[in-house]
Amino acid sequence: MGSGSLDLDRIPAHIACVMDGNGRWARARGLPRTEGHRVGEEALFDVVEGALEIGVGWLTVYAFSTENWRRPADEVRFLLDFNEDILLRRRDELHERGVRIRFIGRRDRRVPRRLLRRMDEAVELTRSNPKMTFTVAFNYGGRAEIVDAVRAIVASGRSASRITERTVARHLYDPEMPDPDLMIRTSGECRTSNFLLWELAYSELYFTDVAWPDFRREHLFEAIGAYQDRERRFGAVEEP
Ligand code: IPE
Ligand code: IPE
Ligand code: MG
Repeated sequence: MGSGSLDLDRIPAHIACVMDGNGRWARARGLPRTEGHRVGEEALFDVVEGALEIGVGWLTVYAFSTENWRRPADEVRFLLDFNEDILLRRRDELHERGVRIRFIGRRDRRVPRRLLRRMDEAVELTRSNPKMTFTVAFNYGGRAEIVDAVRAIVASGRSASRITERTVARHLYDPEMPDPDLMIRTSGECRTSNFLLWELAYSELYFTDVAWPDFRREHLFEAIGAYQDRERRFGAVEEP
């Protein structure tokens, strides 16, 4: 599907993506799981281009979860190295396209220092870019994010009665990030797997069987088309 049939006045301001199915895609072709991650890079950058094309302001992708450390050590190592490599190879291109890069997730000792440095460099390089904020969730867990927010609130000494939903939202990893309007998960699994637990409260969820390495901007447009057919009520009732 092209972008032509979309209502450009109702493009979701923030789209979040669970890039799932790389391993199964590779296995189905007799390849090692890591090949699926490698091919997934093409999908990611086509989706970034598609999002830029139609004016999506915020795009957030799940790259590595707090649970993904449970994978075999060589796959974890591959993913750490690969993410660093992508950052080095792609940051200038993203910068030229006016994309602001950000990260959400825990900066704990398991994340190599060199990768953290590359992340900081990419954030710094692109910090003033106006076109789109591209957030990479890395060593990210929704529960960990809420725990970290609670810790920060307690450390600030605020009294319990003054804690509101706004307080929590302001202590999340990126307080400027709006809640996603649309969450897309590829490859058939219908769960959030600990992605943006707080932020997804009222997002429209879209699941597709397309595996991430095969996902392209056309699939993104299809998801947005489905989103535009939905009625968001936020707990209220339709006006008479
Ligand atoms: C998503 O693909 C990428 C990461 C989780 C890093 P998977 O590696 O989960 O692929 P499947 O779900 O096993 O096919
Ligand atoms: C979610 O996918 C994490 C990422 C895409 C980075 P998983 O493949 O890790 O999730 P589960 O294990 O199927 O729930
Ligand atoms: Mg998976």
